[in-house]
Amino acid sequence: MNVLLLGSGGREHALAWKLSQSPTCDTLYAAPGNPGIGDNATCVAIDMTDHAAVIEFCKGHDVGLVVIGPEAPLVDGLADSLRAGNIPTFGPSKAAAQLEGSKGFTKDLCERARIPTGGYIRTTSLDQAVAALADYTAPYVLKADGLAAGKGVVIAQDLDEAKAALSDMFGGGFGAAGAEVVIEEFLEGEEASFFALTDGTAIMPFGTAQDHKQVGEGDVGANTGGMGAYSPAPVLTEELQARTIKEIIQPTVDTMRAEGMPYSGVLYAGLMLTKTGPQLIEYNCRFGDPECQVLMMRLNGDLVQIMLACAQGRLSEVDAGFADETALTVVMAAKGYPGTPEKGGAIGLKEAESADAKIFHAGTKLVDGQLVANGGRVLNVTAKGANVTEAQARAYEAVDAVDFTSGFCRRDIGWKEVARER
Ligand code: AMP
Ligand code: GLY
Repeated sequence: MNVLLLGSGGREHALAWKLSQSPTCDTLYAAPGNPGIGDNATCVAIDMTDHAAVIEFCKGHDVGLVVIGPEAPLVDGLADSLRAGNIPTFGPSKAAAQLEGSKGFTKDLCERARIPTGGYIRTTSLDQAVAALADYTAPYVLKADGLAAGKGVVIAQDLDEAKAALSDMFGGGFGAAGAEVVIEEFLEGEEASFFALTDGTAIMPFGTAQDHKQVGEGDVGANTGGMGAYSPAPVLTEELQARTIKEIIQPTVDTMRAEGMPYSGVLYAGLMLTKTGPQLIEYNCRFGDPECQVLMMRLNGDLVQIMLACAQGRLSEVDAGFADETALTVVMAAKGYPGTPEKGGAIGLKEAESADAKIFHAGTKLVDGQLVANGGRVLNVTAKGANVTEAQARAYEAVDAVDFTSGFCRRDIGWKEVARER
């Protein structure tokens, strides 16, 4: 069977690597892809916003499964268009993707389904938002309702900062995403991510991870898309995972189905592990980047079979199977990230890869045969080991073998867990 993968980041390179290993996969196409993805797939230029063009490509190339990597085409309804064209698709409908596309939608769903999450209000008025701050205490959690490329959340330390952030949101600082704002109770604890596949009814736990959102070592400085991650996350014990499924994932899947928007695809729950148990911070309707890279590194199952079963409502017929080992990924970014990254810096990968280490490409491109940086996050250097300490040592060994003088990385990915393992 031929498969089409949409996207161009490190997440999609990891998916391409795994999809291409499936005996079921004849030709893997990727649009637009990147030079790393090009090692595993035939890269093609298709405009994802042109749904008819994607359908036409699939019909013309006998594509039996489409895998949608990023959130924007999901929130835009591409999965609905493909399904209407009878093309099996991994990824939720536009209605179901509201779980990521609208923070207010998710908070309301949590309320209806009694899912543990912070108290909140939704508002479309600056005056109402400012007045509502009186019901909360610092730090104030303020969120632009819509998609904001991971930048729509402000944690304000005092009232003045909160008011300024609200003015910015309603003033268009976050584009259309800020037309509505959610003010939320601040939750205390350690953050962890839980992944589950669902076909709308069946639920398959699909691994845990922890990432490092901040650019600086020790988790300080500006927020990024993620500077590194590891899986599994031992803080999410078997007991906490069972509670997450029972109290958060199951009621979400059941309520979405009961309300006529069955969720099909991967549900990525951002959790706060509070004193009283796991609480939902947010949902994403796609895999995490770079969390996907560490999940794929551990996955034993046939990803084409798993995703096809998910797309066809037969998820209960397949098994995932994850290695017990730990995988850890270090993001190598171009200097300047998360501000304006330096573009065009030369990259040499020489022999950085080994049996235990794999390098996924995020923002790279080929210029006259030379691999160069072409984005903020450039490479995801990923390794496996018996625990976080060992996976971390192997990942940094591979990092040190990469020649990327205009790049940088954090040297402490996994630090909390390494300290606990000591
Ligand atoms: P989000 O985009 O919703 O994941 O938020 C980005 C980050 O803001 C999260 O990873 C948390 O670190 C933080 N955050 C979001 N909501 C809350 C909350 N209610 N309490 C504490 N921290 C939060
Ligand atoms: N690494 C965080 C995300 O993909 O949303």
